[in-house]
Amino acid sequence: MSQFAETLIAWQAHHGRHDLPWQQTRDPYRVWLSEIMLQQTQVDTVVPYYQRFLARFPDVASLAAAPLDEVLALWSGLGYYARARNLHRAAQGVMQAHGGTFPGTAADLQALPGIGRSTAAAIAAFCFGEKVAILDGNVKRVLCRHFGIEGFPGERAIEQQLWALAESLLPATGNDIYPQAQMDLGATVCTRTKPRCLHCPVNATCIARESGREHLLPTARPRKATPQRACGMLLVRAQGAVLLEQRPSEGIWGGLYSLPELSEGETAEAAVRRKFGWHGVAFERGEDIRHTFTHFQLTITPWLAELADQPPAGDGWRWVSVDELELLGLPAPVRRMVLQAVRRGIL
Ligand code: ADE
Repeated sequence: MSQFAETLIAWQAHHGRHDLPWQQTRDPYRVWLSEIMLQQTQVDTVVPYYQRFLARFPDVASLAAAPLDEVLALWSGLGYYARARNLHRAAQGVMQAHGGTFPGTAADLQALPGIGRSTAAAIAAFCFGEKVAILDGNVKRVLCRHFGIEGFPGERAIEQQLWALAESLLPATGNDIYPQAQMDLGATVCTRTKPRCLHCPVNATCIARESGREHLLPTARPRKATPQRACGMLLVRAQGAVLLEQRPSEGIWGGLYSLPELSEGETAEAAVRRKFGWHGVAFERGEDIRHTFTHFQLTITPWLAELADQPPAGDGWRWVSVDELELLGLPAPVRRMVLQAVRRGIL
């Protein structure tokens, strides 16, 4: 028997939960009902619902015969109503395809609506002592920490690794207790935040604890790829000064002085014509600059040009010498772009 499972089973006897209403029975109907209610809802919330539900529908036959509306009414407040609809359909399936008796194996239970692999295993283990692994959120957390498994558990490859590990840990006996031991450890000791490692029966062999990574495991869901945006800016210089334009007050860098920005799809030549009325200015593409904002990444392409003399400043734009730049609080990436031009000796 695996030492891990053996230790948890012994721990459960003294430190686990024993008085939850669905622990007083091996009736698959009752265990199934509790497991479905507990899929997305806390124990404390479930208890009164469970009791009311059983008072109205004491067995699978009464549930199967009830109108769906009445089932939904008793579910009202628990949320995730697909659970209630599947529950009703599964009860009818048990009546029609199994003569009113719940299937006796995890594999057959899993064929019923709303019963996934872990729920089927929990019912089969609690009621029939079947040697099958469960893998709910609590168990994933315990295994990732204890065995130091890196990677987001919602990812297919990691989940498969966890199922294989969970199966390899199954005890030879005590499979009717082992799932509850894992759930209890996850719910009361190996909690998501502030795990109580000093009280953990398997802390001596926990990789997360040994490496101080309790809070880093399980690995968090990877952040979505940052959206990318791109724009072009004019870096027009004349007699040691650069042309800056005040940005509109709305949007990023609202009201700051910056390099003039091209409209989408616009060429630099067209932009100087539109903004300043200058014709025939020749531009050269500079080196892209990237800047990361909280919600997106911006790539700026500078378009460089040099004028022989400075046309007089206009409404919302002006010439700024390198020395004056410091005073103007430019956006950081724009500043970097201008300083790069200074360093290259073109400003
Ligand atoms: N969550 C899911 N199944 C449970 C059970 N049998 N006891 C406590 N919490 C649970």
